[in-house]
Amino acid sequence: MADCIDCNAIIPYCTVMGSITIRQLDDALKHRLRLRAARHGRSMEDEARTILRNAAGEETTPAARQPAAAPERQSPRPIEITDHGKRVLLIIGGGIAAYKSLDLIRRLKQRGVAVRCVLTGAARQFITTLSAGALSGERVFTDLFDADTEFDVGHIRLARETDLILVAPATADLMAKMATGAADDLASAILLATERPVLIAPAMNPRMWSHAATRRNLATLLEDGVIVVGPNEGEMAEPGEAGLGRMAEPLEIIEAALTFLSAHSGKLLAGKSMLVTSGPTREPIDPVRYIANRSSGKQGHAIAAAAAEAGAEVTLVCGPVALPDPPGVNTIKVETAEEMLAAVNRSLPVDVGVFAAAVADWRVERAGANKMKKQAGRPPRLALTENPDILATVAHRMRGRPRLVIGFAAETERIAEHAKAKLARKGSDWIVANDVSQSTGVMGGDSNTVHLITRDGVESWPPQSKRDVARALVRRIAEALAETGG
Ligand SMILES: Cc1cc2nc3c(=O)[nH]c(=O)nc-3n(C[C@H](O)[C@H](O)[C@H](O)COP(=O)(O)O)c2cc1C
Repeated sequence: MADCIDCNAIIPYCTVMGSITIRQLDDALKHRLRLRAARHGRSMEDEARTILRNAAGEETTPAARQPAAAPERQSPRPIEITDHGKRVLLIIGGGIAAYKSLDLIRRLKQRGVAVRCVLTGAARQFITTLSAGALSGERVFTDLFDADTEFDVGHIRLARETDLILVAPATADLMAKMATGAADDLASAILLATERPVLIAPAMNPRMWSHAATRRNLATLLEDGVIVVGPNEGEMAEPGEAGLGRMAEPLEIIEAALTFLSAHSGKLLAGKSMLVTSGPTREPIDPVRYIANRSSGKQGHAIAAAAAEAGAEVTLVCGPVALPDPPGVNTIKVETAEEMLAAVNRSLPVDVGVFAAAVADWRVERAGANKMKKQAGRPPRLALTENPDILATVAHRMRGRPRLVIGFAAETERIAEHAKAKLARKGSDWIVANDVSQSTGVMGGDSNTVHLITRDGVESWPPQSKRDVARALVRRIAEALAETGG
């Protein structure tokens, strides 16, 4: 557990205690456990259990590492977006080396990569979906003709919602299917349907590897752009068998995967243009007073930064915020809703518009040219007038409408219901709804819990940092653009 500073501190406590009681831990340790649990979205007890399970797993055989439970059919949720924000779809084929893929899952997760697993029918003869599910923390997919899978995610979405497809072990059979374009099970259908890069780690008996058919299939796959790691030379599982055919070690596979992912990161939106609005607006009452709101601009700025990181040409139109301009972004600073609309119009056309600013609904009808004087007992009555609706204006443009118009909804009650109504009212393509009730700390805070409302339905994303929300949104945007013709 070299990468887990907390475990080393917690385990000795646990091993001397007959039963684990969080209360018995000292305050400093409790504090660290609380932080770690919060980071992973678990209770402190669950976090302690996870640490123990992981630590025990280090010393036991793969077979002994079977988890207590992994829900086969839990409700779909977006795959976890991590600090690195990378996602791997791991297809596990039916070979002896499948047990090593469990280690692969664990190690990828340790490196901040989100892993979703597909097991072939043959793979399930070697390892269980329970193991893969518990280690990946995700539902495991196995069947092409699974009503739930088709309804919830579908093999097409599995094929798309990833940065890389890793096939390990890649059996001779899977290689043959890939080379010939067969699609008679979930794994091969995904491999045929994907446009994502594919990395395979072949593993088989040396005679299978050197067979002319496998040679031909390998040549075809290399020509198709498939990346290959291994196999290595060494002893086979079968007694007395040795040669070229051992699956590359998990660390080698991880190195190949991460090298590929980092070389291709940040290019999801290359060649695309994006406009983001962020922060509050300030509507003057007189030269010194104004109406504003509590928006910090953190979410909008994070989206602009994530889009720029992903290679988009980004214009950020922002109201007054106490944040630095995101690097690599053309930032235009405005004060009022009317100024914001004018700056937005000047920035069109773009491929994508994300309207995250908290634009004041009203402004003072006649703002004073001079500071209003206080008159004892006679507070002024402010007549308000409606501000332009920037999201609706852009969404309803006949010419120059972005291909994808995304609005934000700040709600304090019946979040998804109000956001759905907003989607219809404003004419936007998506609404990102967040709960900004004071208790959530979203306004001004660093984390957010959002619901993505599209015409297909509502996705509730897990609580995460605003930066991770931004990265997840950028991914979804890239996928949507790819689906509608790049
Ligand atoms: C004990 C045992 C071990 C096997 N090991 C391998 C292997 O390492 N590599 C391989 O290509 N096939 C191996 N096979 C054969 C595959 O399991 C078989 O070709 C299967 O159809 C592959 O299915 P899949 O490609 O859908 O996973 C093995 C079969 C058995 C019974």
